[in-house]
Amino acid sequence: MTEWQKTNWRNKPRVQMPDYTDAAALAKVEAQLSQYPPLVFAGEARRLKQHLGAAGRGEAFLLQGGDCAESFEQFSADAIRDTFKVMLQMAMVLTYGAKVPVVKVGRMAGQFAKPRSAPTEVLNGVELPSYRGDIINELAFTPEARIPNPGKMLQAYTQAAATLNLLRAFSTGGFADMSMVHSWTLGFTDEQDVQKYSEIADRIQDTIDFMNAAGITADTTHEFSTVEFYTSHEGLLLEYEEALTRLDSTSGNWLAGSGHMIWIGDRTRQPDGAHVEFCSGVLNPIGLKCGPTTTAEDLKVLMSKLNPENEEGRLTLIARFGAGNVGEHLPRLIKAVKEEGANVTWVCDPMHGNTIKSATGYKTRPFDSVLREVRDFFGVHQAEGTIPGGVHFEMTGLDVTECTGGVRAVTEEDLSDRYHTACDPRLNATQSLELAFLVAEELTNLRRNGSKRAAS
Ligand code: PEP
Ligand code: CO
Repeated sequence: MTEWQKTNWRNKPRVQMPDYTDAAALAKVEAQLSQYPPLVFAGEARRLKQHLGAAGRGEAFLLQGGDCAESFEQFSADAIRDTFKVMLQMAMVLTYGAKVPVVKVGRMAGQFAKPRSAPTEVLNGVELPSYRGDIINELAFTPEARIPNPGKMLQAYTQAAATLNLLRAFSTGGFADMSMVHSWTLGFTDEQDVQKYSEIADRIQDTIDFMNAAGITADTTHEFSTVEFYTSHEGLLLEYEEALTRLDSTSGNWLAGSGHMIWIGDRTRQPDGAHVEFCSGVLNPIGLKCGPTTTAEDLKVLMSKLNPENEEGRLTLIARFGAGNVGEHLPRLIKAVKEEGANVTWVCDPMHGNTIKSATGYKTRPFDSVLREVRDFFGVHQAEGTIPGGVHFEMTGLDVTECTGGVRAVTEEDLSDRYHTACDPRLNATQSLELAFLVAEELTNLRRNGSKRAAS
C-alpha cells in the first residue's frame, strides 16, 4: 500500500466542494495557510481521542455543540462566551445524570463550510448557486456574493484562531469555576416555568457545598476551576484542511491542525470519496454522520478505512435519523458494528433528521422531536446492550427563536423575532439547558436500570 499523503484526496471523486474559478488566487491562499501555525496540537487531539474512547466504554459522556455554521458577521466575544457558558452548564447537569466526566467539544473555531441539499437556490424566480458557508461564499442573494472566493479561507483561519484563543482563556482563566457555573444554573431554575428542574439543581448545589466544606474549592483544586474544552467542525473544505495538515514530530503521524476533532457529513461519506480519503490519514478523532441511507455494508467499509487499527476513541458514529426513525435504522447499524467487533463511540445528533419548514416559512426543529430522538437513541442502546456515548446539538448561548417548543415555548409565529442562524435552526440557551436536564434524567434512568440488570 502506498503511504497516505495529504494531497491524495485530490485523486478521488469529490462532492459538496466549490469549483474555484481563479486557480492562481487559490494556490496563493493555500501556500499562505500552509505557512501558518496549526490551531491545535497533536497531544491535544490524542488526549481527546482517549476521552472519546472512555465515552465509548461508558466511562465518559460527550457533549458536542455549537452553531450549525459560524458566521463572519456575527463573530463576537459575547456570542462565544455565551455558548461556552451554556455548554458548561449543560455539562454540569449531564455529569450529575451520567456520574462520569463529560467531554466538552464545541462546534466552534472552524465550523464554516456547509454541505447543501441542492446546488442552487431559487428566490422570486431567480436561481443562484447555494450559500456554502462563510469560508466559501456569502449568504447575500446576489450573483457576486455566491462566487466562491478562496481569500475567505484566510478570514476563517483568523476567526478560528481568535475564537480558540478566547476559549482557551475562558477554560483556564477563572471563568469555568464550578461554583460560578452552577450559580448561573440556579438562577435559571429559580424562575417559575423551569422550577421542575430545581431538585436536580439543588442536589448539585449540595454536592458542591459538601466538596467546598471538605476543602475542595477553586483555590485548592485545579479541576474545580478549569475545564478541558475541545473544538470540532465538519472537514468539508479539503483545500483548507490540507493546508493546515502538519506532521507531528513526536509520532511521525499527520495532524489535521484545523481543530481537535473533524467529522464527515452525511452527504460526503462515500467510501471511495475524497473526504473519507483525507480523514483516513490524519491522527485526529474522526466523527462519521450516520443517516437513514447509511448501509451496513458501507459502514463496515468505512470503519475499516477510517479505523484500521480498531483504536478506541478514533471513530465516533453520529446517528442522525430523525425522531421515529431510530428504531428502524440504529439496530441494523449496531449489528454491523458488532459483527465487525469494531470499537466506536455512539453519539446522537437529534437535529439534522428533524428539520421541517414551519407554516410561517422558516426552517425549524420542534423541541419535542429533538427530545424524542434522544430518548429513542437511549432506548435502542439499552435494548441492544450497547453504550450511548454522547449527544451532538446545534445550539447557541444566545436568546434566538429558531427551534419551536421548550418549556418557555417558542411558537411558529415567534420564529421571525430573532431568527439569526446562517444555516440550520439552533436551540437557544434555555432550550439547550432544558434538554440537558431531560438527557440527565435519561442517563439517571439508564444507570438505575443498568445496575438493576447487573444485580439480577
Ligand atoms: C451538520 O452537522 O451541520 C450537518 C450538515 O449534518 P449532516 O451531515 O448530518 O446533515
Ligand atoms: Co446543521
